[in-house]
Amino acid sequence: MQNKPIGIFDSGIGGLTVAKAIKEVLPHEQIIYFGDTAHLPYGDKSKDSVKSYSKRITGYLLAKGCKAIVIACNTASAHAYNDLKKFYPKVPIINVVKPTVMYVATKYDTGKIGVVATKGTIKSRIYPRKIKKKNPNLQVPQAAAPLLVPMIEEGFFNNNISQTIINSYMSARNFKNLKALILGCTHYPLIKSEVENFFKGEVEVIDSASVVADYTLRLLKKENLLSDKRHGSDQFLVSDFTKSFEETSKLFFGKAIHLKEDRIWD
Ligand code: DGL
Repeated sequence: MQNKPIGIFDSGIGGLTVAKAIKEVLPHEQIIYFGDTAHLPYGDKSKDSVKSYSKRITGYLLAKGCKAIVIACNTASAHAYNDLKKFYPKVPIINVVKPTVMYVATKYDTGKIGVVATKGTIKSRIYPRKIKKKNPNLQVPQAAAPLLVPMIEEGFFNNNISQTIINSYMSARNFKNLKALILGCTHYPLIKSEVENFFKGEVEVIDSASVVADYTLRLLKKENLLSDKRHGSDQFLVSDFTKSFEETSKLFFGKAIHLKEDRIWD
């Protein structure tokens, strides 16, 4: 079982930021990545739709022999994690919310921890609920930032357009005097430095991709599931292929990859 792949899924290709972070800390692991590009974006979908897509994709990755599942998508983590755990109780399933919650609730005693994410994640209130349960002394103001996903996918970052949009979201009144800010979306690691600059380096900007990668390493170790040698090559699958998805995937994974289409919904 140790030498089986890790299954990672997302609504699209943004989750490649999580796949990249996992490959950095676990270079020997084989991954099978599935991006549900046919249903992108999940951030605006109903909870029921995201739950049913996530269930089907998890079943698909397990049928491919995956030893563990990482839900790279914040929106799917917020809406579907509990159901997936119930449905597949024996499989280690990692979501992107829990490791980030544990990180902030342990590190900060008091103060304000902001969250920026898709509309779906914000509406679920998953971060304030989970953080306050661990540490009721923390305040958790939130802001949905729906323009950031298309902005980043179109390659608008580190320029004056992205700066204007980021400034406008980060200037939210409830984001005054933050100690830390959680970037609660697959795409946001690409704008981390711009957000840090907005806050003049005075706010810790937490990129959930790297927190989740470290957590995945610890969990696989604990479950005795770390592979002892590299087996097979990584696979990157999408439910709807376009050339533009393949080109954009380079932004998120940091190097060119070959996307293969598997139309699992047909
Ligand atoms: N992957 C989504 C997330 O992390 C962002 C893109 C989408 O809305 O599908 O919430």
